Amino acid sequence: MILSTWLAALTIVAAPLQVMAAKNHDFKLCQQQSFCRRLRGIADRASKDEGFTSPYSLLPPVPNKGGSAGASWTFPMKTSLYKDVEFELQLDILEQGDGIARIRVDEVNSNLSWKRYNETSKWALLEAEPARADLSSVTEKTSQGGKVNTFNYGASGDLSLEIRHEPLLITFKQGGETVMIINDRNLFHMEHFRRREDFFFEENNENDTIESAIDGAEGDQVVLSPTGKEKEKVDTKWFEGEPDKDAFEERWKTWADAKPKGPEGFSVDITFPGTEHIYGLAEHASPLSLRSTDGSAEGTFSEPYRLYNVDIFEYEADSPMSLYGNIPMVHAQTSKHSVGVLNLVGSETLVDVKHPKSGVQTQWMSESGIMDLFILPGPKPKDLFRQYAGLTGYTPIPPLWSIAYHQCRWNYLDQHDVLDVNRRFDEEDIPLDVTWLDIEYAAEHKYFDWDKKQFPDPVKMQNEVGALGRKMVAIVDPHIKKSDNFRVYKDATEKDIITKRNDKTSNFEGWCWTGSSVWVDFFNPKSWDWWTEMFSFKVWEDSTKFLYIWNDMNEPSVFDGPEISMPRDNVHYGGWEHRDVHNINGATFQKATFDALLERESPKKRPFVLSRSFFPGSQRYGAIWTGDNMGTWEHMAGQTAMLLSLNICGMTFAGADVGGFFGNPSVEMLIRWYQAGAFMPFFRAHAHIDTKRREPYLFDEPYKGIMRDTIRLRYQMLPVWYTAFHEASLSGAPTMRPQYAMFPEDSLGFAIDDQYYIGDSGLLVKPVTAAGVEDTVVYLSDNQPYYNYFSHRVYPASKRSRHVKVPTPLETFPVLLQGGYILPIRARARKASTLMWRDPFTLIVAVGADGNASGRLYVDDGDSYDYESGQFVWREFKLDGSGKTSTLSNHNLATGDQAAGDLVKFSPSSGPWAEGISTVQVEQIVVLGLKSKPTSVQASGTDLEWSWVAGSSASTGSEGDASKLTIKNPKLKIVDDWSITL
Ligand SMILES: *[C@@H]1O[C@H](CO)[C@@H](O)[C@H](O)[C@H]1NC(C)=O
Ligand SMILES: *[C@@H]1O[C@H](CO)[C@@H](O)[C@H](O)[C@H]1NC(C)=O
Ligand SMILES: *[C@@H]1O[C@H](CO)[C@@H](O)[C@H](O)[C@H]1NC(C)=O
Repeated sequence: MILSTWLAALTIVAAPLQVMAAKNHDFKLCQQQSFCRRLRGIADRASKDEGFTSPYSLLPPVPNKGGSAGASWTFPMKTSLYKDVEFELQLDILEQGDGIARIRVDEVNSNLSWKRYNETSKWALLEAEPARADLSSVTEKTSQGGKVNTFNYGASGDLSLEIRHEPLLITFKQGGETVMIINDRNLFHMEHFRRREDFFFEENNENDTIESAIDGAEGDQVVLSPTGKEKEKVDTKWFEGEPDKDAFEERWKTWADAKPKGPEGFSVDITFPGTEHIYGLAEHASPLSLRSTDGSAEGTFSEPYRLYNVDIFEYEADSPMSLYGNIPMVHAQTSKHSVGVLNLVGSETLVDVKHPKSGVQTQWMSESGIMDLFILPGPKPKDLFRQYAGLTGYTPIPPLWSIAYHQCRWNYLDQHDVLDVNRRFDEEDIPLDVTWLDIEYAAEHKYFDWDKKQFPDPVKMQNEVGALGRKMVAIVDPHIKKSDNFRVYKDATEKDIITKRNDKTSNFEGWCWTGSSVWVDFFNPKSWDWWTEMFSFKVWEDSTKFLYIWNDMNEPSVFDGPEISMPRDNVHYGGWEHRDVHNINGATFQKATFDALLERESPKKRPFVLSRSFFPGSQRYGAIWTGDNMGTWEHMAGQTAMLLSLNICGMTFAGADVGGFFGNPSVEMLIRWYQAGAFMPFFRAHAHIDTKRREPYLFDEPYKGIMRDTIRLRYQMLPVWYTAFHEASLSGAPTMRPQYAMFPEDSLGFAIDDQYYIGDSGLLVKPVTAAGVEDTVVYLSDNQPYYNYFSHRVYPASKRSRHVKVPTPLETFPVLLQGGYILPIRARARKASTLMWRDPFTLIVAVGADGNASGRLYVDDGDSYDYESGQFVWREFKLDGSGKTSTLSNHNLATGDQAAGDLVKFSPSSGPWAEGISTVQVEQIVVLGLKSKPTSVQASGTDLEWSWVAGSSASTGSEGDASKLTIKNPKLKIVDDWSITL
């Protein structure tokens, strides 16, 4: 009966947006998994019963032993569900610094020997247990018959957590206002460990179904409100649902999952009152602002947002289906406040979202592990970025070359092909930094071992590419060919570091590119040093310092496994099941490779590792990309929202395959892809083996020229990107910033996810993602003029937010410069970024509504760690237009007393880089939007060479050409303090 109800529900809700692509049947829906069915079922029952209440309650808290007083508290937790069963839950409250509260629930003292996986924080956080002594201010009062403990904390004491004991309710307040409620809908549940025979209640009478319990409740609260005397009558089914025949062993298609620990799922609901928009839960191909998942209306999903890393073939452009990586975090945004929550769990997690009028409701459902919630208090998006980065790590400054242009294809066939691609780029004067090798470089896909027929001398090839100032990247996937004559396989079996089957002793074998393969268990510390050796130049003799690494397929992808991945009952180091750590798995692989590359050279060079799978903390180890996208307009359009979601989730070094991995895009589409790609943090063209070659030099004019100009534009903007990455490394703020993050008071921008700002540069970009688009509408939120980067048209300041129409014939797209910013670029075209380090700079000043502007520039040697000892240039440019004349100045930010605190003063006195950069000049300054022509332009009393073009906007105050002052060759150095009076 229940089953048929579910099926009926499924059919009804399947209507909107669930367009089934060919391969969707490879992946499970919520209803096809017992834990999700059970936990989602609670919400279903709760929604049908007004008297539904939480069976969970707390006992008074005790301060934790050990650690400093007031650092953390433990509330023993009770449930009224199982009167005869002994188990204990405990809820810990900790403070992690920067106002972040952590709420952890674990099952303790189970009379079975099982434990929940509790090491997720070890992988994701910078410090697993950094509890601060900020929770000492606790009060207790009794209200409405229940005890409430209130913790007041935060730097200004304006944060509070109110913890009601019975029924369990946790309210988080900012400045007295409730912004987040946990267990508001009574959906918290942690399934305790139990034996199979305890799970199937003998006393069940076939008619004693959930429906009858609910029906009974309508006239009679006894069954559903388990309090007082009637407690004895409590039937757990009103809460837990029918005993689930799949709870201890689950079959799906041809696979069986022998769940030895039985059910251990948990659910928690989190409500954001007064909120219309929440963001996060990367990675999904869906809009930035998360949709309802109750299938209630047009434009909603019928499945929860799923977080279970999988290798999904030809993914849908608009779907809550899982993709390759996951960040279980959301930001909730209103025009008054921002708040975030990270639910740090390594097992499969699904999130339902609802948008009732009162706010946003979420329910989080996980298969196993402890509950570990972090409340990021905001109060603004920039605070959330910093708080998340403080917990899970900042994105380190990548090597400069890795944010330049990458040319990839499955596959460049041989040594000759690789060098030929490099030669063709040079012949056409198209910049290029990195040539990539997909799986076919390796003999029989035995990564590390070059196919010597096609690549007879890989070292010579790498050196030749290196001599052009360029790098190469080769793929190393986690599946290892099961072959006794493959050294990597032999080592791994000898060291016994291979992921085990559910018998805990035999190696798990599966099918991948390599045929029959095994997977190293990177949770095992024994694997780490060995993996590091694998990348040393001594062991990998065919690698050079010009070669970097791509880690693909690390979800892991197992072609003949359930959902194209590993069985969940596989066993990892420490006896943990794969289900417990599945979502962390890919991150451990990228980390191991990052650590290996770090050890390769002395002095150390910054590693570059591209990964497909990721988890919180992955941002510390390199870049990710959005996987196997398609060369369609729909996919191109969707990539911007995906990348914005990744960015706000801390994964800022992200990109999408330019051109689309699958398919043969038209040249128009390809050009639009390049324009979009040139403004992605990671800019790589890639294509499937079955596609036609599409390197930019292959096209006729004018197309080739447009692609060349677009790639050159990226190179001009490298200082902007590098500065944005530098800022991300200090503040955690992403390099791609959505409208809500820039203007958190402007709710009209909260749903916008097709345009974005680059770091704190003032650049606003909107890719064109449809055919034949002659103009594009851009939303402007603030009272600033915006200048078209290409045409120098100005869209004047306005007190009201507005839409402006930007002409976008094929060769151009909206790149606007926000008034009030100064953009440092390097305008000279070069063959590779590494050849630009002594090139002069151009400053583009976009005069703000108040006549002022400012901008920053960060430069270092681009690939070493010398910046840690002060070898960097960090400048601020300022236009002060408050007086009769304006002053444009350049001053040093690299002094110890800046916001970053611990930075060392720049000392450009020693070493070739410091000497080289100290002579680099500003070759041109363009000032857009000055109100009137200056009478003179001078630096230190000396007249400079300048020209003036009056604008057509200044006189009319409406859209027109900006006035333009050009200062040529002022002979000023980038590292010097100077000022120019206008
Ligand atoms: C655990 O508790 C249950 C219920 O109280 C009991 O039936 C079972 O025998 C206990 N198991 C062990 C291993 O003590
Ligand atoms: C996990 O639980 C074990 C046993 O209770 C404990 O010793 C360990 O410190 C916990 N680990 C973390 C990271 O919390
Ligand atoms: C279940 O309900 C049906 C119809 O109401 C009734 O005929 C049947 O006897 C009931 N079975 C039990 C075991 O109570």
